[in-house]
Amino acid sequence: MEKLLVCLLVIGMAVKAQICPKRCVCQILSPNLATLCAKKGLLFVPPNIDRHTVELRLADNFVTSVKRKDFANMTRLVDLTLSRNTISYITPYAFADLENLRALHLNHNRLTRIGNDTFSGMSKLHHLILNNNQLTLIHLGAFNDLLALEELDLSYNNLETIPWEAIQKMTSLHTLSLDHNMIDYIPEGTFSLLQKLNRLDVTSNKLQKLPPDPLFQRAQVLATSGVLHPSSFALSFGGNPLHCNCELLWLRRLSREDDLETCATPLHLTGRYFWSIPEEEFLCEPPLITRYSHEMRVLEGQRVTLKCKARGDPEPAIHWISPEGKLVSNSSRTVVYNNGTLDILISTVKDTGSFSCISSNPAGEAHQTVDLLIIKLPHISNSTNNIQEPDPGSSDISTSTRTGANGSNHTGDTKTNPDKRVVIAEATSSTALIKFNFQRNIPGIRMFQIQYNGTFDDSLVYR
Ligand SMILES: *[C@@H]1O[C@H](CO)[C@@H](O)[C@H](O)[C@H]1NC(C)=O
Ligand SMILES: *[C@@H]1O[C@H](CO)[C@@H](O)[C@H](O)[C@H]1NC(C)=O
Ligand SMILES: *[C@@H]1O[C@H](CO)[C@@H](O)[C@H](O)[C@H]1NC(C)=O
Ligand SMILES: *[C@@H]1O[C@H](CO)[C@@H](O)[C@H](O)[C@H]1NC(C)=O
Ligand SMILES: *[C@@H]1O[C@H](CO)[C@@H](O)[C@H](O)[C@H]1NC(C)=O
Ligand SMILES: *[C@@H]1O[C@H](CO)[C@@H](O)[C@H](O)[C@H]1NC(C)=O
Ligand SMILES: *[C@@H]1O[C@H](CO)[C@@H](O)[C@H](O)[C@H]1NC(C)=O
Ligand SMILES: *[C@@H]1O[C@H](CO)[C@@H](O)[C@H](O)[C@H]1NC(C)=O
Repeated sequence: MEKLLVCLLVIGMAVKAQICPKRCVCQILSPNLATLCAKKGLLFVPPNIDRHTVELRLADNFVTSVKRKDFANMTRLVDLTLSRNTISYITPYAFADLENLRALHLNHNRLTRIGNDTFSGMSKLHHLILNNNQLTLIHLGAFNDLLALEELDLSYNNLETIPWEAIQKMTSLHTLSLDHNMIDYIPEGTFSLLQKLNRLDVTSNKLQKLPPDPLFQRAQVLATSGVLHPSSFALSFGGNPLHCNCELLWLRRLSREDDLETCATPLHLTGRYFWSIPEEEFLCEPPLITRYSHEMRVLEGQRVTLKCKARGDPEPAIHWISPEGKLVSNSSRTVVYNNGTLDILISTVKDTGSFSCISSNPAGEAHQTVDLLIIKLPHISNSTNNIQEPDPGSSDISTSTRTGANGSNHTGDTKTNPDKRVVIAEATSSTALIKFNFQRNIPGIRMFQIQYNGTFDDSLVYR
């Protein structure tokens, strides 16, 4: 009888051991279940974790990847810790069932990128801790569902940029740690809706400037650590190559606690302590146009490049105004490069006139005019008015084009009209192959001109 009892006891223990993974400790703090598996030398997430667990600690193991089945059906899980493992890969949707998860710790692992599918659907997550990984890329949509996030730690990674648009929408965010990365740009307006933000750390990045934001006006303490007053805001930005011109004056005017930040540029402020430089020395330089194209004459249809270069601090932006007074933008015929160059790929007579190059920065504006003369070519636009010259068959093109509007197929034309000298061999909605079927040179014809309508900007184009 006693033997039987022992036997039953052993069976009972075995059943219990099955619910709690080997080596782990399971605490039933009724009604909640915590599964504690930290520092157990685990190589993977144990398969037999109770799916009702509320807290799951897997820190300080040797887990290398997270698989879809690892956390499947754990709908009650609130707190998941995977810190200090060797995780380099997370299968898409591996956390998809964790609809109640509030805190996810993935710090000190070997993650290199975060995909759009990694954290999708985690709309209740409050804390996402990803510091000390090797992240170089976070896909643009990766944080789209994390709208409830209160704390986001991406520090100590290799990030050059993060999904700023998603950050902008995290209106509950109070702590954003981006320090020790390679971030070189923060878009203006990123923090404008983050009313609860009270700690922003961008220490040790590659920022030359910070976008001014009304939020920073609450900044009363600029410290890397320390106790904060509830209404104040801690901003840390030391260890960046700050460009101390008038655009950083707003930052200089904030009150601060520590004095470690220095300026990297301009040259005369290099290495000087940010807070010790008088406001008057945070200067900008208005633009000065240093080089530009002088009067240009070009044959109609040719490409023409107008140049305009300016210097100033900050780097001036350059815009072009057409002779009609319109801002020139990229189109099928024109390309405006950031370096100030305007390329007119196919010039038309309409381009004749004075173009204005406008160079501007926060300190001012400078103008320069560039005169352009387009020399008109004789146009052969239909077959009835060019009888003096041998007919190159240009009418064939317009005929074909018209039938093309019906979506018909032109590959047959070459066969059915073998005597036509110019035919459209293949036509699609955006391309046409035009064939010139001449056996020999025709005296008097030096060039062909093709006229087509560009739908992109609705202008007639000659080539
Ligand atoms: C999750 O639940 C589904 C349906 O209840 C079941 O088919 C599946 O095996 C479960 N997966 C795991 C890993 O428990
Ligand atoms: C991720 O989602 C964004 C939109 O949210 C999309 O622009 C991007 O192409 C997606 N990237 C990948 C790799 O699917
Ligand atoms: C126009 O196109 C060029 C080359 O593709 C690009 O570098 C430039 O940024 C574009 N400009 C605008 C205003 O979008
Ligand atoms: C401006 O940039 C374009 C494209 O990168 C280049 O082709 C052009 O030579 C540049 N112009 C000048 C003046 O640097
Ligand atoms: C074609 O020629 C006729 C006769 O010379 C002329 O009236 C007509 O305007 C021309 N069409 C075009 C598009 O130039
Ligand atoms: C286009 O097709 C319709 C009917 O299929 C026909 O009536 C019309 O004449 C055609 N138009 C041209 C320009 O070929
Ligand atoms: C074009 O014509 C060829 C034969 O003439 C035919 O095989 C092809 O399906 C046609 N394509 C279209 C888009 O009508
Ligand atoms: C081509 O453009 C000219 C001028 O904008 C217009 O009059 C003509 O109707 C257009 N032709 C076609 C086939 O779209």
